[in-house]
Amino acid sequence: MSVPLLQAEDVLVQFPAPGQAPIRAVDRVSFSVAANETFGVIGESGSGKSTLGRALVCLNRPDAGRILHDGADPFALTGRAFRAHRRNYQIIFQDPNAALNPRMTILDSVCEPLEILGEATAAARRDRARAMMDRVGLSGSYAGRYPHELSGGQKQRVNIARALTVRPKLMVCDEVVAALDVSIQAEVLNLLAELQGEFGLTFVFITHDLGVVSHVSDRIAVMYLGKIVELGPAARVRHAPLHPYTEALLSAEPSALPAAMRTRERIVLHGEIPSPADPPSGCRFRTRCRFAEPRCAVDAPAFREVQPGHFAACHFVDQLTLQGPAS
Ligand SMILES: Nc1ncnc2c1ncn2[C@@H]1O[C@H](COP(=O)(O)OP(=O)(O)OP(=O)(O)O)[C@@H](O)[C@H]1O
Ligand code: SF4
Ligand SMILES: [Mg+2]
Repeated sequence: MSVPLLQAEDVLVQFPAPGQAPIRAVDRVSFSVAANETFGVIGESGSGKSTLGRALVCLNRPDAGRILHDGADPFALTGRAFRAHRRNYQIIFQDPNAALNPRMTILDSVCEPLEILGEATAAARRDRARAMMDRVGLSGSYAGRYPHELSGGQKQRVNIARALTVRPKLMVCDEVVAALDVSIQAEVLNLLAELQGEFGLTFVFITHDLGVVSHVSDRIAVMYLGKIVELGPAARVRHAPLHPYTEALLSAEPSALPAAMRTRERIVLHGEIPSPADPPSGCRFRTRCRFAEPRCAVDAPAFREVQPGHFAACHFVDQLTLQGPAS
């Protein structure tokens, strides 16, 4: 069997919190992503998605567990070898301005990653950058412009071109369309899908929008308070969820039907997501779960394979009848 491109093995990432226990932003998470796959990660704000995404591309070092790239631990590398390795694992952020220097032209920004790697001559770097800009739909007339002269969608295209010039294997897209208008969101998602085929890319697609993630992903992991609570094929997670939290996320999606015609009840998640510095005992979702029983406060449910390739962490997964998406 071939080695997965990416593996997370029991990964823990925590942050110090003055006067209290460290925040376990990602708490013992395991999964693997095959080459050319699109792996979606979904969850509410604060569930640990970005912290996980950053760890996957070595921007956060796990406090325990391991990240493996092509079966090897990137943190075992040092200096130049580590930097050379990291080019293969890129991340794009929600804020289109995050990686763009406002004082650099678009062409210089797209050239920059190659320049940092010391690759090719200046003229060859510019040629590659222009070709990549063309490919993401930015004609030559944008080359001399500055970021403030571009729309959010155009800036996100610049970020995609920047990440692609170094020919990565994996791209983590962290809420890359969240700041864009709905019509532009579709354009950027379509572009990413085209580029995946063309460049043989593997994607980890992070979003709080289940609609977005389920359309672009092969498999989806659902995160709650630093834990993966459900993981499975996108269609199964979307249409036949196993975990009450996924059920609630699906139910919160906007429905095309007027309320009186809907066949399913909307499940409202009451209360804020608890603090990861002090998570509930037992099952972390129990304070908001409509099925919670006394046992849920005592025992943490095991994350187990309930159906082939479809995992969930809930004591009563075999007994619950859950709703599918709002209809
Ligand atoms: N650098 C940091 N220092 C301290 N705490 C942090 C840091 N980064 C993240 N956290 C905390 O870790 C938890 C997870 O944060 P993270 O940004 O990964 O969540 P998220 O799922 O990406 O949320 P969002 O949807 O809002 O982007 C939060 O409680 C956050 O406050
Ligand atoms: S273990 Fe209990 S609280 Fe947790 S999801 Fe299942 S029923 Fe809800
Ligand atoms: Mg985030």
